Amino acid sequence: MHNLTGQVAIISGGLGDIGQACAVELARRGADIGVSDLSDGGRVEPLRKEIEKLDRRFRFDLSDTSDAGAVGQWVAAVEEDLGPITLAVPNAAIVEMVDLSSMTPEVWQRHLDVNLSGSFYLAHAVAQRLVQQKLPGRIVFIGSWAGHAVHGHIPAYCVAKAGLRMACFSMAEHYAPYGILVNEVAPGIVNAGLSGKVFEEDPALAEQTRSKIPIRELMEADEVALHVAYLCDPRNRNMTGSVLLCDGGLSLVTATETNKIKKD
Ligand SMILES: NC(=O)c1ccc[n+]([C@@H]2O[C@H](COP(=O)([O-])OP(=O)(O)OC[C@H]3O[C@@H](n4cnc5c(N)ncnc54)[C@H](O)[C@@H]3O)[C@@H](O)[C@H]2O)c1
Repeated sequence: MHNLTGQVAIISGGLGDIGQACAVELARRGADIGVSDLSDGGRVEPLRKEIEKLDRRFRFDLSDTSDAGAVGQWVAAVEEDLGPITLAVPNAAIVEMVDLSSMTPEVWQRHLDVNLSGSFYLAHAVAQRLVQQKLPGRIVFIGSWAGHAVHGHIPAYCVAKAGLRMACFSMAEHYAPYGILVNEVAPGIVNAGLSGKVFEEDPALAEQTRSKIPIRELMEADEVALHVAYLCDPRNRNMTGSVLLCDGGLSLVTATETNKIKKD
């Protein structure tokens, strides 16, 4: 399936687990790939090889997504090298387990800067270039089911992801007349990346978590990438301002649990 041939995709935090899976899936479908991250960590060359094996072009830049100026420079550099960017996946994020009783202004601000503002800077820079170039495009934010359910141990992350959802809706409405579709993929708990690191340290927690998910499965990074690719598919022409929630039913349980408490 090469329905993205001729397109260029840009992915922030693209050396992370979900970012890499998105890069490979979009390349498999024909897109050339520009990726940024905060450090190389030995992950650039293996990813480059994988993308180039698919006969796609690949570019990596060190770039901090929370710095609007740096994001603008990165977008310009990718465009110069690979051509007009028609697909954007704002994916970079951080999470720190700090509950409200231990919250500091610095921790709060860091989450907003990276997860909310950083994602917006990338999406907006790409959308503005598309409008200037009169090109249609797709933006797929990587959100989280945590954006609509309270998680007491990561409130700053939840607030940033909730804000991201409104950024998605606002951009979807504004850019629809320009043929730019803006959506969000909201994964549940993925057995990789941010959660994967926690599970590696505490494998028992992975099992405990799995047992609480209605479908009894943790999500894998490739499945997130599949949903991103679906939203980038040119045949998918009417979906904008949508949240593709893929949480194995977790948010349903939260509601059910709350109702139970109310009944008692
Ligand atoms: N893993 C999960 O369970 C899960 C669940 C729901 C949503 N998500 C979302 O998926 C996305 C990817 O996360 P992941 O799980 O692959 O984690 P990850 O840590 O593997 O990837 C995140 C990447 O972002 C990079 N990054 C962090 N700050 C950055 C910055 N300022 N500028 C540029 N890059 C930066 C990191 O270096 C890392 O490579 C995130 O948006 C996350 O919120 C993850």
